[in-house]
Amino acid sequence: MIVVFESVLLLSESMKLTTIEITSLDELDVFAKDNLDLILENKVVLLSGDLGAGKTALVKAFGRAFQVEENVSSPTFSLINEYMGFYQNRSIPIYHVDLYRIESVDELEEIGFEEYLDQDAIIFIEWPEIAQPFIMDNALTIRIEIFDNSKRRLNLSNSSRQ
Ligand SMILES: Nc1ncnc2c1ncn2[C@@H]1O[C@H](COP(=O)(O)OP(=O)(O)OP(=O)(O)O)[C@@H](O)[C@H]1O
Ligand SMILES: [Mg+2]
Repeated sequence: MIVVFESVLLLSESMKLTTIEITSLDELDVFAKDNLDLILENKVVLLSGDLGAGKTALVKAFGRAFQVEENVSSPTFSLINEYMGFYQNRSIPIYHVDLYRIESVDELEEIGFEEYLDQDAIIFIEWPEIAQPFIMDNALTIRIEIFDNSKRRLNLSNSSRQ
């Protein structure tokens, strides 16, 4: 009985927020500007979607929206890129992580992944599946799908585990 009850609780933690259709990079910038509070409320943002879905493009848009000075670039090889963003007269560190090349939890520990999660910072994670055991707190998941060749559908949900 207890097990059943717990699984119901877990299910209820996964909350579908909304689905948004984006037809251009300009629209992605508008989406980012409109959703800064949502990112700050969650802090951990899991980005799922196939190769080329638009995960990095979304982080670039949030970089512009948070007034990051440098151009946000893909952390495919660096694994983690660090930026400083600004919002309402306050600076906020932003980490952009790409776990595509990480093959084990041991490798995750080697790059100090857990310590990034503990900080008062925003962390965008591409290919977050391998990090799921570490994602215990509230996280925002944005699942990106391509439709009509080049448009993007963003599915936003909020849960501790996917
Ligand atoms: N909303 C969008 N509208 C138009 N073009 C987009 C959009 N999102 C991404 N793109 C374009 O699609 C291409 C791939 O995007 P991006 O590099 O962000 O994908 P990704 O999901 O990060 O891929 P990977 O898994 O390889 O890291 C880029 O050229 C980018 O400009
Ligand atoms: Mg990418």
